[in-house]
Amino acid sequence: PVSFSARASTRRQTAASRSTMSVTAGFKVAVLGAAGGIGQPLSMLMKMNPLVSELALYDIANTPGVAADLGHLNTPSKVTGYVGDDELEAALTGCALVIIPAGVPRKPGMTRDDLFAINAGIVKTLCEGVAKYCPDAIVNIISNPVNSTVPIAAEVFKAAGTFDPAKVMGVTTLDVVRSDAFVAELKGLDMKDVDVPVIGGHAGITILPLLSQTTPSVEFSDEEVEALTVRIQNAGTEVVEAKAGAGSATLSMAYAAARMGESCLRGLNGEADIYECSFVASSVTDLPYFSTKCKLGPNGVEEVMGMGEITEYEAGWLEKLKPELTGSIEKGIKFAAGE
Ligand code: NAI
Repeated sequence: PVSFSARASTRRQTAASRSTMSVTAGFKVAVLGAAGGIGQPLSMLMKMNPLVSELALYDIANTPGVAADLGHLNTPSKVTGYVGDDELEAALTGCALVIIPAGVPRKPGMTRDDLFAINAGIVKTLCEGVAKYCPDAIVNIISNPVNSTVPIAAEVFKAAGTFDPAKVMGVTTLDVVRSDAFVAELKGLDMKDVDVPVIGGHAGITILPLLSQTTPSVEFSDEEVEALTVRIQNAGTEVVEAKAGAGSATLSMAYAAARMGESCLRGLNGEADIYECSFVASSVTDLPYFSTKCKLGPNGVEEVMGMGEITEYEAGWLEKLKPELTGSIEKGIKFAAGE
């Protein structure tokens, strides 16, 4: 089975002990939007995860086919397919983790915020289902704009009386995966050793890689820091343009979401030292939601870690990103309130 992990240190351990990894619990996981560009490869990776006992695939179309296809993999979890509103209850009941990649992706020239009109409603409806049918589940939100869809989810759960800030997580793992890959490539380092924390949000300039906190310690020139930061902020657009109208990142996103999902399940399973950056309810800054490294445990986010010491350059970006991120958060909250 594939195994991802949050930190280079634990990653090495996992690789070494993979064949003897003991699974003490099996969890039901739902993927909402499972027939999509992200949903299908993500569902396959979750089907390969030994911590998953049941995988519920939900979409508005095509999930029976995807479920039948994945059901032939000889990995232990059971796969079930659900289509449409009437089947959302069965998909969600008993879930420990719900991963949401439902919604439209970007085309060239679009920002993530351009997706708001369609995706905000989709996330709201799906989270109303989560509140009803699996209120204790951890929710991983992939649907863009994450900077707004996470506040929407939180407001839906608040209205339903089920909000647990430790369980609502925006998936920003792809920003970390990209940062790790770009730094390792540039510096000729072993991919599996590199870890760059990425903070802020998940759109353009709200994405702030903390290159100064790269593990292992790496020296960058000012020009390298500038070029890497801007490339990481625009990496999603690189893919959107290369796909020329066929959508945005799906395979790298599925990989990143599977790593995030696995980290959540390992936390639920009681494993120690599981960390992922995620866009969550936070008091690290004066913004109500912010992404930093989070320690994961049996109840979801055990601790939202601080951003650590940042450079003057990074502090400059932090000040620049705050107004945009605040606006996106407020837009989500207002939408949820029906304004
Ligand atoms: P896609 O169009 O290939 O797939 C989306 C799937 O959602 C489709 O199968 C569609 O039928 C389904 N869907 C639509 N409404 C639904 C509903 N009400 N309930 C359940 N399923 C529904 O799109 P793709 O490429 O998979 O992207 C999905 C989302 O992920 C987009 O919003 C995209 O912007 C976002 N994304 C997020 C990233 C991140 O880093 N957080 C990175 C890349 C994409």
